[in-house]
Amino acid sequence: MKTILITGGTGYIGSHAVVAFEQAGYKTVIVDNLSNSSLKTIDGIEKIIGYRPDFFEVDLRDKTKLEDVFRKYDFDWVVHFAWLKAVWESCEKPLEYFDNNIVWSIRLFELMKDYWVRNIIFSSSATVYTSPQPSPLKEREQAQSWIKEDFVTWNTSNPYGTTKFLLEVILTDLSKFAGFNVINLRYFNPIGAHESWYIWEDPDGIPNNLLPYIMKVATGELKKLRVFWDDYDTVDGTWVRDYIDVVDLIDGHLKAYELLENIPLSNFPPEGERIATKGFIDNFNLWVGRWVSVLEMVEAAKKVTGKDITYEIAPRREGDLGEVYCNPSKAKSILDWEATTSLEDSLRNSWKFYNK
Ligand SMILES: NC(=O)c1ccc[n+]([C@@H]2O[C@H](COP(=O)([O-])OP(=O)(O)OC[C@H]3O[C@@H](n4cnc5c(N)ncnc54)[C@H](O)[C@@H]3O)[C@@H](O)[C@H]2O)c1
Repeated sequence: MKTILITGGTGYIGSHAVVAFEQAGYKTVIVDNLSNSSLKTIDGIEKIIGYRPDFFEVDLRDKTKLEDVFRKYDFDWVVHFAWLKAVWESCEKPLEYFDNNIVWSIRLFELMKDYWVRNIIFSSSATVYTSPQPSPLKEREQAQSWIKEDFVTWNTSNPYGTTKFLLEVILTDLSKFAGFNVINLRYFNPIGAHESWYIWEDPDGIPNNLLPYIMKVATGELKKLRVFWDDYDTVDGTWVRDYIDVVDLIDGHLKAYELLENIPLSNFPPEGERIATKGFIDNFNLWVGRWVSVLEMVEAAKKVTGKDITYEIAPRREGDLGEVYCNPSKAKSILDWEATTSLEDSLRNSWKFYNK
């Protein structure tokens, strides 16, 4: 049975990946420092899959502890989710983001090299695309068709995006010079939850992401949604994003995994060999191709929850773009993947959790 190391596996997206990979017949091993998640997630995963997944509380910066995990298992793959991910926070603490997101990933890659684990799926983000992207509303269709995987990545609009961009550059070189096989998935704004609602996105305090924020207002835990600015050049002045259901998103990871399994593995060059064997890297946008503004999301959530969702317009946040587009056609043609969950179903699954 193939064994997969999942970093950040108790987080929102990582926990859904653990469930999907286990249910598809793989063995997963989770490492997470629980800085943005908790052991409740392990209980939730156990309820869904019927047994407790292997979990190690490890900070990726602690190479010794991480190496203990590499010694214990013969990993075939790594799926790398562990990351600091708040865009606004990255603008306030850019050095912390560069240090944490880049340096700890390098520790991980060193161990992958030492233990001959060359296959990795990386969760990148559409924030790597050069900004500002074309934004006038009338050009939407045209703009979306531009942002294919070979669109320029650079000049990111915040340090979070820069850390993703830099890691993509590093992985590209590792594929060229160290035989790494990489599937790089670029996505934005996952929403929803596993239908069991045993695992979910439930950040403490005021959430960074829109949907948990709206849900917490719907339950009355928070009084008002703060809508960060209503003067963007968009349908109603509020941000427009593409929201993808987390279960669809993880299905894309499984499809990517199948693709990687079917490519011939590189011959790993012995240490010190001058001509390194080439690996492989490919990038995919995992997007729905469906645009939703903040106020449209509020309206959709009102219908699903039956609750009033009060909001106020707050000042624009640094690093936020008005609209972001991507073209998901490559994932459809090569991975045979498409997001199929409706916005209402994603909202309904989230609401099941918040309303319980
Ligand atoms: N949620 C989104 O909107 C979104 C969009 C695009 C890409 N992504 C990427 O997907 C990945 C997962 O995102 P998520 O929403 O599940 O985030 P999350 O915060 O829920 O999960 C990340 C997990 O990583 C863990 N972690 C952080 N630093 C660590 C460290 N040093 N050592 C070990 N564990 C550490 C956290 O405790 C957390 O459980 C991230 O790489 C993120 O950048 C997320």
